[in-house]
Amino acid sequence: MTVDEKIGQLIQLNPKFFADVSVDVTGPWESLGIDEGFLKNIGSVLGSRNAEEMLIIQKKHMAEDKNKIPMLFMKDVIHGYRTIYPIPLALGASFDPDLVCECTQMEVKEASAGGVHVTFAPMVDYARDARWGRVMETCGEDPLLNSIMGAVQVKAIQGDDLRDTDHIAGCVKHLAAYGAAEAGRDYNTVEMSERQLREFYLPAYKACIDAGVTMLMPSFNSLNGVPSIANKWIMKTVLKDEWGFEGVVISDSNAVGELKTHGIAADSKAAAELAFKGGCDIEMMTANYYVGLKELIEEGKIDMAQLDAAVERILNLKESLGLFEDPFRDASPEKETAVCLTDEHRAIARRAAEDSTVLLKNDGTLPFSKDVKKIALIGPFAESKKIMGSWACNGRDDECVSIAEGIRNLLPNAEITVVSGCSAELGSTDTSGFDIAVQAAADADAVILCLGELSIYSGEGNSRVDIGLPGVQNELAKICVAANKNTAAVIFNGRPLTLGELDSICPAILDTFFPGSEGGNAIANLMFGVANPSARVPMSFPRAVGQCPVYYNHPSTGRPKRNDFDNYRFKSRYLDCGNLPLYSFGHGLSYSDFRYESMELDKKQFTADEKITVTVTVRNAGERDGKEVVQLYMHDLVASSVRPVQQLIAFEKVEIAAGETKQIVFEITEPMLRFWDADCNYISEAGEFELFVGYADHPYIQDRFELI
Ligand code: BGC
Repeated sequence: MTVDEKIGQLIQLNPKFFADVSVDVTGPWESLGIDEGFLKNIGSVLGSRNAEEMLIIQKKHMAEDKNKIPMLFMKDVIHGYRTIYPIPLALGASFDPDLVCECTQMEVKEASAGGVHVTFAPMVDYARDARWGRVMETCGEDPLLNSIMGAVQVKAIQGDDLRDTDHIAGCVKHLAAYGAAEAGRDYNTVEMSERQLREFYLPAYKACIDAGVTMLMPSFNSLNGVPSIANKWIMKTVLKDEWGFEGVVISDSNAVGELKTHGIAADSKAAAELAFKGGCDIEMMTANYYVGLKELIEEGKIDMAQLDAAVERILNLKESLGLFEDPFRDASPEKETAVCLTDEHRAIARRAAEDSTVLLKNDGTLPFSKDVKKIALIGPFAESKKIMGSWACNGRDDECVSIAEGIRNLLPNAEITVVSGCSAELGSTDTSGFDIAVQAAADADAVILCLGELSIYSGEGNSRVDIGLPGVQNELAKICVAANKNTAAVIFNGRPLTLGELDSICPAILDTFFPGSEGGNAIANLMFGVANPSARVPMSFPRAVGQCPVYYNHPSTGRPKRNDFDNYRFKSRYLDCGNLPLYSFGHGLSYSDFRYESMELDKKQFTADEKITVTVTVRNAGERDGKEVVQLYMHDLVASSVRPVQQLIAFEKVEIAAGETKQIVFEITEPMLRFWDADCNYISEAGEFELFVGYADHPYIQDRFELI
């Protein structure tokens, strides 16, 4: 291969460069000034729409490329390809790795038939700040939950053999600490101690690498002064030397070029040198490698051997995907149509939406009786089909079930009135729809308020400083509840919202995040008791945005506030708000009545080569079968560095039939007690630990054990 041909493998462009097609791409991009003759060398494509487009581009390329090296087609398949399932934050709420596995397998089967070879997933950026729009792509504020869900996705995406066309390659992103953007503003800088980084932010990336993920994407942000892509500490010391990652690294969109705007590269050549030496194999959507790499090699600043190694990694990936035997990997428009949005896939998406919707509050209003005659659906989301979330990929609004449709499907004989009442747009003050909404509420037997933030208010580039319900939705809720007490709300959101006002007004609240193609059917099932809510809060819901970041596993302080009545001045507290969030991590109600009867430890002391068996007994004292998320937390009482006030160390989602009692068994081993000490050693220390079952800040049963 010539140097140009090699460099071409290291550049990714979107379909516009190869065919007369229109695509949506993320991030900024402008005309890159790549010479047309060079295009035949390009190694990969970002975001082609479907099998038809992939075939056009790949066929043209195979005819023009003398080396006959197929291109890789990569796309953001984040929560579904054509069948859209709930956003990752909601899947975090499901606390159900098997469900995540099922959803992911379905999505990659569809994506593969649609001509995708690599998905830019899983995204496992640990996040605590609800202002950040991309919390919708994470599984929440717990490192264990994020790690488990990330690893499960990697395995489900890639299967056992990448040649199997039911699977594709994965790309874990965005290393590192993208979710810690200062003040929750996307792309903002991150300054963080190594200890904090290692303890909370790095474990999920590492879990994905241990699960065998093929590719990795560095983050946009600067990390302690150097943008990740050029940050040798994270990209080399940690990723390659410590974790042994040998796969392909791809830049985020435009990120090599942004080394210039970050102010650490004077020109494209300098940006190329920094990124390439940082370990970035593929440059996405900018042409700095095209502009600079050849000269850098000629000047001896980059070794040809390094270029060859990067090309080899990419060719190996193409080979392991079977592209040299079949550049199309059996994808075709016919196969895509046959595989996508089948009844089976819709059923998975519906179950996923049911199992990842959290019942935040219920005074007994829910579930509504299926015998109600007149139902009022009120609010800007009552008929909305824009409930799939901001990475809806190839999902189409016309294939998404709205709440109104879902309720009509479930209760074809009910009289259903649909009123939008107001808008969900930021800054809207229009109350002209209130009168008709109140009338509809007063006339109905049951009222469903369909509220939330628009899906375009979360996701990339969509940070907010006020994370309440936009517009006049709280006012709408107030007058509707006043008109009819038999009211429940369903909330659509890409982040935890400040729902304090609604909580004080509304008798029952279901939070469905963005539930995907089958959202309306799932919500109908939950509202009318066909399904039983079983999800739990994956990220604390603040009372006020000023609490952000508020997270359950925060370090102990020297002056903790004991409870809401502890108003002593010199405590770590606010004058105008409590410390606890409105809904804590792990909170979530059910139509069943789960009672924790006991938690038994087979021993209270153990050594590093022993384990403790913890048996938790839970009874479903209710009248409905249900699923409970049994959560085990610990607190290290005395350690050489400050420890979190509580840490989730294990969880299990279990089905418990009405009247049934189940025992859930957990094991505690020494590695579960390890932490990064002040000198960044990963150690455990002998001593006493508190243990509880319950959810964050809410122990049901407590005990202690000791590591000796
Ligand atoms: C996002 C990535 C995404 C890429 C390609 C970027 O703007 O940050 O998460 O994979 O675009 O679409």
